[in-house]
Amino acid sequence: MALEFTALHPLFVGEARGVDLRRVEDHATLDALRAGMDRYGVLVFRNQPFSDSEQLAFAERFDGTLHAKTGSAALSANRFGNEALTDISNVDEHGAVLAADDRRRHYGLANRLWHTDASFEDPPGRYSLLSTRVLPPAGADTEFADMRAAYDALSADLKQQLEGLTVHHSIAYSRQTLGFDFSPQELEKLRGAVHPLVRHSTVTGRRALYLASHASRILEWSLPEGKLMLRELMEHATQPQFVYRHRWQEHDLVIWDNRTTMHRARPFEDHKHRRELRRVTTLDIA
Ligand code: OGA
Ligand code: MN
Repeated sequence: MALEFTALHPLFVGEARGVDLRRVEDHATLDALRAGMDRYGVLVFRNQPFSDSEQLAFAERFDGTLHAKTGSAALSANRFGNEALTDISNVDEHGAVLAADDRRRHYGLANRLWHTDASFEDPPGRYSLLSTRVLPPAGADTEFADMRAAYDALSADLKQQLEGLTVHHSIAYSRQTLGFDFSPQELEKLRGAVHPLVRHSTVTGRRALYLASHASRILEWSLPEGKLMLRELMEHATQPQFVYRHRWQEHDLVIWDNRTTMHRARPFEDHKHRRELRRVTTLDIA
């Protein structure tokens, strides 16, 4: 069966069929997948039973360089011994569910805030590839928001005001909004990065709001005006018409474009059940 895409939402998100990503190497298929990402922003693939090394190898074939600077590295070592393989789970190094008051659990809960991956780094994240290993019996969906459609829906006047503005993103900032404390040594490693508020793709010709809960301020504006605008834009961009909810199945791989979408994890009984996924994010470099 040849590669084909079906839309899962009126604005963005496609399901790709007819491809085994662990084996795809030819340029034509990889190019068609990249074009699918430009069109849909999020691609869902069913029946992709990746091992860790297969997932890392596919991400490299797909987009070159892997992002290995994650926020959690400032807190504790990666349990797989490879910072490019992000541990999206609620378990400790022995595979046991984290205690309710475990600091790593509190840190991971911030994935339930709307965000885009590694916007607090320079270069930031381009594609994220998230693959299931162990799923809980219920809940634990992931939501995605279409930041190109959200941009398109702004008034011409607001678009004009936002053009050229820059935003500081910090993972310490997004955790602190939940009351999470960092040591001075940790904060030293988490200084953040500055990126444009509106991103423009020369490939698709489209603009997107580049927002995240990591966004702490607009550099060109006063602190309160900038924070108010960021809040308003976050509310605007996450209205139901811009949001797709993904219900995970065993062996799913979902790829999203961090330049054109935001995402957030939804709750589940994380004190009772294991949920383990692995994420690989690529570097947004030319
Ligand atoms: C991520 C992430 C959300 C989820 O992997 O970057 O934010 O539902 N995941 O696990
Ligand atoms: Mn994320």
